[in-house]
Amino acid sequence: MTAAGPPLLALEGVAKDYASEAGVFRALEGVNLTVQKGEFMAIMGPSGSGKSTLMNIIGCLDSPTEGTYHFEGTDTATLGESALARLRGEGIGFIFQQFNLLPRLSALGNVALPMVYSGLPRREREARAQALLESVGLGDKARSRPSQLSGGQQQRVAIARALANGPQLLLADEPTGALDSKTGVEVLGLFRALNAEKGVTVVIVTHDPEVARVTNRVVRIQDGRVFYDGPPSDAALLGQAAA
Ligand SMILES: Nc1ncnc2c1ncn2[C@@H]1O[C@H](COP(=O)(O)OP(=O)(O)OP(=O)(O)O)[C@@H](O)[C@H]1O
Ligand SMILES: [Mg+2]
Repeated sequence: MTAAGPPLLALEGVAKDYASEAGVFRALEGVNLTVQKGEFMAIMGPSGSGKSTLMNIIGCLDSPTEGTYHFEGTDTATLGESALARLRGEGIGFIFQQFNLLPRLSALGNVALPMVYSGLPRREREARAQALLESVGLGDKARSRPSQLSGGQQQRVAIARALANGPQLLLADEPTGALDSKTGVEVLGLFRALNAEKGVTVVIVTHDPEVARVTNRVVRIQDGRVFYDGPPSDAALLGQAAA
């Protein structure tokens, strides 16, 4: 399938500064990244290298200090808060490093929540949420609160929630970090199926070379800079490949 039109994501010269009492910290510097629709890619790099910062910018939760970010050809800097909220709500599924589940809602309520704004009637939202929970192996935990679930189960609820509105872009920050290897393989299989069958673009942050190995592209970040962008070769997975 040849991609007509603009790339799904295009970051050019992106820098991100965090200001604190200790001064300004530059978490990203000179990041150029183009992602086409239908890609399945991994972002790797040491702790503190800027991976979550980059994901927050790609997910329109934060904006670059310098540089530009175009989503499907639109400069995100030109979008107002409501347009950004719509893009996040309808176009992007985000699985956070900390799961960010609402503690007062059941697993089902958490998964159904993003659909509240989509106009689906409650019964359909709940049926769809139940089906999503079943797809991550939690059909029997729909009524449990997050505090009653294990870390890996909470992570799977967060994955089901990210899929609620059928996003075209799935951003997952360490989605298998809290899972046993069997569940991790199942979740990865779910992402692969979404990518292969529905054309969902998938970007996964991972420390695990075995997760990155199944993707088509690895981007390595160190000290806020991209220093490898290419196929998941052994050297790339082990962090020995240079750009
Ligand atoms: N809100 C903030 N204010 C100040 N500094 C921040 C803030 N958020 C992140 N940083 C700093 O920016 C750098 C990049 O952080 P980021 O969370 O992107 O790292 P990461 O690659 O996701 O790491 P990990 O693998 O541990 O999750 C770190 O040095 C961090 O301390
Ligand atoms: Mg992180």
